[in-house]
Amino acid sequence: MKRDLLRVLDLSGREVLSLVSSGRAWKRRWGKRNPPRPLAGKSLAMVFQKASTRTRVSFEVGMTRLGGHALFLSPADTQIGRGEPVRDTARVLSRYADGIMIRTFSHAFAEEMARASSVPVINGLTDDHHPCQVLADLMTARERGLDLRRMRVAFVGDGNNVANSWVEAAHLLGFTLRVACPKGYEPSGRIRREAETIGRGDVRVLRDPVEAAKGADVLYTDVWTSMGQETERRKRLAAFRGYRIDADLLRAAGKGAIVMHCLPAHRGEEITDEVIEGPRSAVFDEAENRLHVQMAILEKFIPH
Ligand code: CP
Ligand code: NVA
Repeated sequence: MKRDLLRVLDLSGREVLSLVSSGRAWKRRWGKRNPPRPLAGKSLAMVFQKASTRTRVSFEVGMTRLGGHALFLSPADTQIGRGEPVRDTARVLSRYADGIMIRTFSHAFAEEMARASSVPVINGLTDDHHPCQVLADLMTARERGLDLRRMRVAFVGDGNNVANSWVEAAHLLGFTLRVACPKGYEPSGRIRREAETIGRGDVRVLRDPVEAAKGADVLYTDVWTSMGQETERRKRLAAFRGYRIDADLLRAAGKGAIVMHCLPAHRGEEITDEVIEGPRSAVFDEAENRLHVQMAILEKFIPH
């Protein structure tokens, strides 16, 4: 039976750890050299309803490196943009391709795509989840020597899609997560409750970024205004003032704390230029690791 990856909770803790180690193996053994081609002749249809640099390029390059092919489908050039029902698109793409990757707004749209499709659907970001990002983040933390079951992560900023996926990962693996965000911008209550039922993570939502950062191994942030929220930008700039990773917050964290950001970054808003360019920043390794961990995801999810 086909399996989808729409959220971190679609995986078990053991599967998360195994994807992280196989992403690391792809990176260590092959780097940029030509790897084996387990997906030779396979195609991935990539449906993008939002902009992307990393997700698009890493999935496309990942499929090529595994011997397969990826198709970039934008609403402007396909019937999706002209209102063809998602269930029809899903059924037709399933007849041609061996997997579908979707980046869209509503998570329900991705779920509907998965229900109607007979091939695996992988979530490349919705308003609620960004599982492939957090798998790359976990790989980066592991590569920096952290224990994924015991580390302490501080997420500072908007309790958005990326934060929701961090909440799920914390409960699945059991690590400590502190989310510092202004009132009204917490991670989804529904997702928190769903994750708690399976979870053993120590997850708390706080107001004070310094309290969250204390003793953290990883300081994480994301943009204050996500894709689709552009009309709220002014309100958000005011609400998030103070929820920034800067040199002072880094000092409040653990001595060896590393800094992560999923990118794209808005320097001077959620993170300072000094920190993102500084010696504790793991941001560009993290971006690179999207490619390696997604090769592991594609190898696991696309039947071959
Ligand atoms: N981090 C991330 O998903 O980047 P893109 O929006 O460029 O794909
Ligand atoms: N939270 C951001 C992540 C971008 C990769 C957004 O949804 O725009």
